[in-house]
Amino acid sequence: MTDTLTLTRPDDWHLHVRDGAAMAAVVPATARQFGRAIIMPNLRPPITTAAAAAAYRDRIAAAVPAGLDFTPLMTLYLTDNLPADEITRAAEAGVVALKLYPAGATTNSDAGVTDIRKTYPVLEAMQRAGLKLLVHGEVTDPAVDLFDREAVFIDRVMRPLRADFPELKVVFEHITTKEAAQYVAEAGPFTAATLTAHHLLYNRNAIFLGGLRPHYYCLPVLKREVHRQALLAAATSGSDRFFLGTDSAPHAAALKEASVCGAGCYTALSALELYAEVFDAAGALDKLEAFASHHGPAYYGLPRNTGTVTLRREPYTLPEAVPFGDALLKPLRGGETLAWRQTV
Ligand code: NCD
Ligand code: ZN
Repeated sequence: MTDTLTLTRPDDWHLHVRDGAAMAAVVPATARQFGRAIIMPNLRPPITTAAAAAAYRDRIAAAVPAGLDFTPLMTLYLTDNLPADEITRAAEAGVVALKLYPAGATTNSDAGVTDIRKTYPVLEAMQRAGLKLLVHGEVTDPAVDLFDREAVFIDRVMRPLRADFPELKVVFEHITTKEAAQYVAEAGPFTAATLTAHHLLYNRNAIFLGGLRPHYYCLPVLKREVHRQALLAAATSGSDRFFLGTDSAPHAAALKEASVCGAGCYTALSALELYAEVFDAAGALDKLEAFASHHGPAYYGLPRNTGTVTLRREPYTLPEAVPFGDALLKPLRGGETLAWRQTV
């Protein structure tokens, strides 16, 4: 049995860190584990200009503890009205991608895209400049059942988009269904997907176990076991089209434990430990390094990180809550014992 895992320092290809004191509370956890992270732009107001992204990058960098080498990779929030010439400025400022949120699909997405055709001039500029498109792949049509919104998105949006922009590099973010896993596996070299730890660990029963559990509520919502199995197969397949993206999305505990609970699971405190648990349970620890540290940089055209992280099989109890600005933040699995622990 493997008891120690040393990996090339990994990256998190989908992360929410918020802003201000809340950001300062969560950035250290990610910087301890990952060399880089793709920073989601769904602040209020969203990050829609190169200048705002550069300023946000500086604020995040200032929250990285001394001695840790961590680079935030910035994204812009795609809107119906984003001017195409912002793409040139974005590329010059080092922005790596734009995020497509269908309007109303999830937390802070009201400024999102109402019709993807409105963004075609921007997508053309992105395809030319080599900027990636990161997609929250759910339709928002209220007539579509919540649990089917990702599968329907593939036919209504992804396939036409791929046909119209065959060389735009697209990441289908936080996929949750067997349909999405299969689609990405077959879609060719310009389409990849990120997988969260929570969608690999849990099916939708976790939300309802003994009562309603708000900390397991995220979007896209957890699905049936058959879908979790398909995601696990994709993550451990060795295919370079699938890589790590936590979608760690912190919300103050008081807002999660409320009559209307915001969507998002906070996993950054123990992200690598959770992925190690997933790959261990699947007998695929040998596939973890490529998934966490190799496939992402290859797809983004970036070098792999230098340096390593080490995890040991050593039970430890996650804190039930951690400070989050003036509030408290409850990590997924808080108060429970994890099997792996990062040592260095
Ligand atoms: C994210 C958030 O809280 O910003 N929530 C979530 O459930 N994943 C938004 C998102 O990525 O959908
Ligand atoms: Zn997200």
